Amino acid sequence: MNDKLIIFDTTLRDGEQSPGASMTREEKLRIARALERMRVDVIEAGFPVASPGDFEAVQAVANAVKDSTVCALARALPRDIDAAAEAVKGARRARIHTFIATSPVHMQMKLKMTPEQVIEHAVSAVKRARQHTDDVEFSPEDAGRSEIDFLCRVLEAVIAAGARTVNIPDTVGYNLPHQFGALIKTLRERVPNSDQAVFSVHCHNDLGLAVANSLSAVLNGARQVECTINGLGERAGNAALEEIVMAVRTRRDLFICDTGLDTTQIVPSSRLVSGITGFAVQPNKAIVGANAFAHESGIHQDGVLKHRTTYEIMRAEDVGWSANRMVLGKHSGRNAFRTRLQELGVAFDSEEELNDTFQRFKELADKKHEIYDEDLQALVTETNLAAENERIKLVYLRVCSETGETPQAEVTLWVDGAEQRANASGGGPVDASFKAIERMINSGAQLLLYSVNNITSGTDSQGEVTVRLEKGGRVVNGQGADTDIVIASAKAYINALNKILLPTERAHPQAGQPI
Ligand code: KIV
Ligand code: ZN
Repeated sequence: MNDKLIIFDTTLRDGEQSPGASMTREEKLRIARALERMRVDVIEAGFPVASPGDFEAVQAVANAVKDSTVCALARALPRDIDAAAEAVKGARRARIHTFIATSPVHMQMKLKMTPEQVIEHAVSAVKRARQHTDDVEFSPEDAGRSEIDFLCRVLEAVIAAGARTVNIPDTVGYNLPHQFGALIKTLRERVPNSDQAVFSVHCHNDLGLAVANSLSAVLNGARQVECTINGLGERAGNAALEEIVMAVRTRRDLFICDTGLDTTQIVPSSRLVSGITGFAVQPNKAIVGANAFAHESGIHQDGVLKHRTTYEIMRAEDVGWSANRMVLGKHSGRNAFRTRLQELGVAFDSEEELNDTFQRFKELADKKHEIYDEDLQALVTETNLAAENERIKLVYLRVCSETGETPQAEVTLWVDGAEQRANASGGGPVDASFKAIERMINSGAQLLLYSVNNITSGTDSQGEVTVRLEKGGRVVNGQGADTDIVIASAKAYINALNKILLPTERAHPQAGQPI
């Protein structure tokens, strides 16, 4: 029997540390549900002490998720650990992940602590976390640049104090695969009580080696990998979940372990994360890129038609790619609609939410005769977004765009319970609409990103728009979808404005620790 490789997803924590990828509580919940459907073992939901909003998001995930362990991050500080414990206490299975840096540069320059003080803090943090749960994970931050003798001492001490998982981060993505694999092997051999903990790895992608380093660690005995959907994460990102999982599964001849994941959920989850964060997936990205299973050259196409294994090492359907399939149309009833959404793993919180989404499905079916799974997913996203658009809603939009004339927009919004109307002109209809909206809201926010993608193919496809705004150092993403891309753009802009108007203050987990 193969060993189990534990998949620890940190999209909601390290992934969210990507500049511009911040997520609301509702968005985190949607991603957490997708991860649970994929049967991810551990979901790191956030860093509760960072802000009241982060605390509430972790708490909401802990209360909603039943099948995966829900984990919260905490620096090696009593108040961080207590906040993490409080946030995950509603979870069926709760984990606290505490960390402190162990590399010379971090200890001297960032923490301003001696190695002995670092060990003391690490041990007391683990002991304090163990008072709340048996499932405690410890990470020596920047282990990839730490001295091996010191690392062995720290790990021995935290395992003795009760850490059940020890996670070895290559925080700055500095290691090479053979070196990182050897590090894991040495630690397992030299730490006297290493058999009492699961060895985990957490690799960053600064040299493009996060997945290679993680796999090398697995070949050397690591049995948990920390990763994110689409490789999202600080700077160049973390190891991509989809690549780790499919490498281990495809090369069963080399790995003596496997994950328990439902890999058919990979592509839907990738799309969900990319839509919410506005981080597009590059077309040639392994597993989840649009071209990952496309064969352009005649020789390859011929080979695949004769036998698919000539040029394919995995089956597209095994990772969740499905050909655009017409599932429903104008005459489909409520039951067919509900059933198809259930098959896609979508459940509604209330009958009212189902009715509202069904109503919008009917409106869409009038404009677009063939409704695909992707269209249904966009409708559900719209339902979820409606709940976020508390202060500002789009009531009416009219644009006028003709050759040789300046485009004009007329927009009516519902703002804090009252209707407002404004006109504006702009370089194009989208620009004019955004200017009209800003004339009413006066947000002062700066537009960082505007991107449009078609949800399916064809000119009647819905356009899915992401808008990223920045104000006072805070960055948010808004989404909108419609068969009319100007309306989709206005919806995305309004969604982003609703988010940026919410007050939040947050701390960064890896900034200097006021110990
Ligand atoms: O990269 C890192 O070191 C981390 C730790 C908190 C595990 O994210
Ligand atoms: Zn990290």
